[in-house]
Formats: sequence, structure tokens, C-alpha cells
Amino acid sequence: MAHRQSLIAGNWKLNGSRQSVIELATAVSAGCGHLSAEVLVCPTSVHLGDVSTITADSAVTLGAQNCSNEQSGAFTGEVSASMLAEYGCKYVILGHSERRAIYHESSEWVASKCQAVQKAGLTPILCVGETLEEREAGQVESVIAEQLDAVLNSASIQAFDNMVVAYEPVWAIGTGKTASPEQAQEVHAMIRARIAAHDNAIAQALRILYGGSVKPDNATTLFSQVDIDGGLIGGAALDAESFLAICEAAG
Ligand code: PGA
Repeated sequence: MAHRQSLIAGNWKLNGSRQSVIELATAVSAGCGHLSAEVLVCPTSVHLGDVSTITADSAVTLGAQNCSNEQSGAFTGEVSASMLAEYGCKYVILGHSERRAIYHESSEWVASKCQAVQKAGLTPILCVGETLEEREAGQVESVIAEQLDAVLNSASIQAFDNMVVAYEPVWAIGTGKTASPEQAQEVHAMIRARIAAHDNAIAQALRILYGGSVKPDNATTLFSQVDIDGGLIGGAALDAESFLAICEAAG
């Protein structure tokens, strides 16, 4: 089996003042030099300049929470992937369930953002996941298949060669309810199998993160599952000590 380096990504969402974000980035940068997991922080776009200065000489990687599918032009309020690259971003979270639900981003739209991000030389973190209603209706596999297939159909399997997938069951995000390690593993294995049906080598190298109420006390059992290659962390990433404890759990 391909060796996959663990990735722990902090999704800071719409939080913090300039000062508190600087303090958080400083504490995370100071505490993760010895880890074998890759550690990523994703502040808001306006905080990227400050955070990139802090993380530049550390082991921490920088990412963004969203970006436009457009390169430039009359798209008021948008930020392009190449602008994020200029600030040192390596990853962009795309298709987070909050973007899909609140801002009505369709899977096709998310797929076009994936292409824009890859074109700028960055790596998308493609978020997929079902709502509680969909889970109870037995639709987990079909919902996730639709979200993955939008990328496969608009690009090709090669797109997954430079991609991270994050499985985030919507019912587990910010709710304190975590998928059990077995529930998460089952979906991660399904995602990998779906990619493997197109290209086994790409599937074996693909990092699949779990997200949804990951905390220091549940991280170890989640990360010990064979197809879980790290986590996308929201609430617990806003506290340097908790976030670093989760990074420790990933190795
Ligand atoms: P949470 O958020 O860890 O607060 O559940 C995860 C996410 O939304 O990426």
C-alpha cells in the first residue's frame, strides 16, 4: 500500500480578530516542528498575509477556505486561486458543506473551482458528506458519489492525483456528534474504492481526511482507521493546545 503522509488541516472559518489570529498562528507554528504529520492552517483570506509571514519559517503549511472559479475580471468580492498562491497558499478547501448549504454551491460549481485551483498549482481539499436526513434515507453512497463524480466528469481521474478529499458528515460538523471510527472508515473505504475503479494507484495515494467534531480525545481512534489519513478540524483548531494535541495523535 502507498505510504500516505497524514494531514491535519485547521479550518478557522470566520473567526478571530487580527491579533488573535496572529497569536494562534504563532502558537501552532512554535509547537509542530517535531511532528511527522503535515500541519495546515486555513485562515480567512484577509488574514493570509499576516499568517503567511508567521508560518513562512515553520513547518506549518498555509491554505485558504474557498476561492473563485474565475481567474480575474468583473466578479466583485471574489478571490482567485492565483492570488492565494501569491500569498503562499498550498491548499484550498472547496465545497465545504457550509458553502454548499448557505451559498448554494453546486457540485458542478465546486468542480470548476477544483480546476481553477489546480491550474494555479495548488491542491484542492474537496469536501464531501451527507446530511442526517440523507443518512437516514440510506443515501450516503449516492450523495458522495454525486459529489465525486462532478469532478470526475468535468476533469478526469488525473484530477485526483493532486487532490485531498475530506469526508465531513454534515450532522457531525460543529455539533459535538462524531461519526464512529467504524462509520467513518466505511465511507472512507467507499470513497477510495470509487476512485480505485478508475485508477488504483491514484486511489492508494489519495489522502482522505475525516472532519466533524474531531477533538483530542477522539482523534487517535479515528486516525487509526486504515483509510483515514488525517482530519479537517473546525472548532478544536481555534485553540492551539487542542489543535496540536490532534496533530500529535496523527503522528
Ligand atoms: P468541526 O468543523 O470540527 O467544528 O466539527 C469541521 C469543519 O467544518 O471542517
